[in-house]
Amino acid sequence: MSNVWRRVCRSIRSSKFQVVSIIIICFVILLYTTNDSPTETSEDLRIKINKRQQQNQQLFTRSKTTKNNITSNAKSINPYPFRVVIAPKPCTNEDVVFIVHSAVQYFDRRMLMRYTWLNKNNLQKTLALKVKIVFVTGMTNNTNVLTKLSYEQEFYQDILQSDFTDAYLNNTYKAISFLRWVSSKQGCPNASLIVKVDDDALMHSVQLPRFNETVHQILNKHRENVYMGKLISTHVNRDNSSKWFVSYELWPYKRYPIWFQGLAYMMTPKLAAKLPSLALNTAYMFTDDVYVGVLVSKIKDVDLIIDNSIVLSQGWCSVLPRAQY
Ligand SMILES: *[C@@H]1O[C@H](CO)[C@@H](O)[C@H](O)[C@H]1NC(C)=O
Ligand SMILES: *[C@@H]1O[C@H](CO)[C@@H](O)[C@H](O)[C@H]1NC(C)=O
Ligand SMILES: *[C@@H]1O[C@H](CO)[C@@H](O)[C@H](O)[C@H]1NC(C)=O
Ligand SMILES: *[C@@H]1O[C@H](CO)[C@@H](O)[C@H](O)[C@H]1NC(C)=O
Ligand SMILES: *[C@@H]1O[C@H](CO)[C@@H](O)[C@H](O)[C@H]1NC(C)=O
Ligand SMILES: *[C@@H]1O[C@H](CO)[C@@H](O)[C@H](O)[C@H]1NC(C)=O
Repeated sequence: MSNVWRRVCRSIRSSKFQVVSIIIICFVILLYTTNDSPTETSEDLRIKINKRQQQNQQLFTRSKTTKNNITSNAKSINPYPFRVVIAPKPCTNEDVVFIVHSAVQYFDRRMLMRYTWLNKNNLQKTLALKVKIVFVTGMTNNTNVLTKLSYEQEFYQDILQSDFTDAYLNNTYKAISFLRWVSSKQGCPNASLIVKVDDDALMHSVQLPRFNETVHQILNKHRENVYMGKLISTHVNRDNSSKWFVSYELWPYKRYPIWFQGLAYMMTPKLAAKLPSLALNTAYMFTDDVYVGVLVSKIKDVDLIIDNSIVLSQGWCSVLPRAQY
């Protein structure tokens, strides 16, 4: 543990880190200033999106699940047979749950996040709300990593690990695992908001006041189903030489429904609670963020809020060396 921490400190002190941070900060400011569209209010957007969602709904002839039984894997087209191996403490009265998708061996990134922008005490002060942080990982057969992870859990109590293999193509299982945990009695069913980020997400402090405002706006509306984030495109990649290629077999429609970039999106726990049972009857797609968008599109009365100002930049990966164990 102390070894990891020393390495984190070393990286922070190195001039490379400082140069990269400056580049990231400039990039964040650039995004922050160019993404604003003051002519269109979020209410306008919401109406536009709701119209779009109704069109999407007509596409989904396949969606027929209504049973809210997430334990039933019988005859499901996308069974989820995995179990929780390590669980964080259940929520007590936390308002906002930060969920971080994290690769199991990335101790450094989790450490950096705990002591920088995702620091629980700082966030609680900024937001004036009770906050919970949970890192979501999968399984590995590397015993060194598992041993370290158990120490990490002993110390921080903020790891959710399930027994599917931790792999890029299993990212959607990671999403399903947190959706199940968060809405279970052992999770945070009574929280008001989930903020999902990746372990390479970075929020600069200039963003925090605006983020704070956004969070409180959502909470003040007391809506049951809210899904909010950055919309990149609903285009489906049909270029079979691309890494992102999606076959007609997997996705037969022209476009995706509204989905928000996995780097950072928010949703209400009440919406999250409705998704695991839908996942059992929604064909697996490895793109976890698109998949969550597809699940959400099967639910009526969702406030879909496009907010391109949830500006996080993918920073850590260029700063930290890849962990070797
Ligand atoms: C949920 O599924 C399990 C396993 O198939 C079954 O035993 C249970 O009765 C179901 N519960 C409800 C409420 O349908
Ligand atoms: C965040 O917003 C809340 C509610 O508006 C406010 O009480 C709090 O002071 C804000 N935090 C900061 C750091 O401005
Ligand atoms: C461990 O997992 C990796 C990748 O999942 C696999 O290639 C390797 O064979 C496994 N090793 C053992 C000892 O099971
Ligand atoms: C995803 O997890 C399952 C269950 O552990 C495993 O069988 C599968 O190989 C994993 N996929 C990849 C791409 O590693
Ligand atoms: C959630 O709230 C309900 C009703 O207020 C309460 O009965 C339940 O115990 C709470 N659950 C958790 C896990 O806090
Ligand atoms: C990729 O698509 C092109 C044209 O759509 C097709 O001719 C080609 O056979 C495809 N390649 C593979 C590997 O499927």
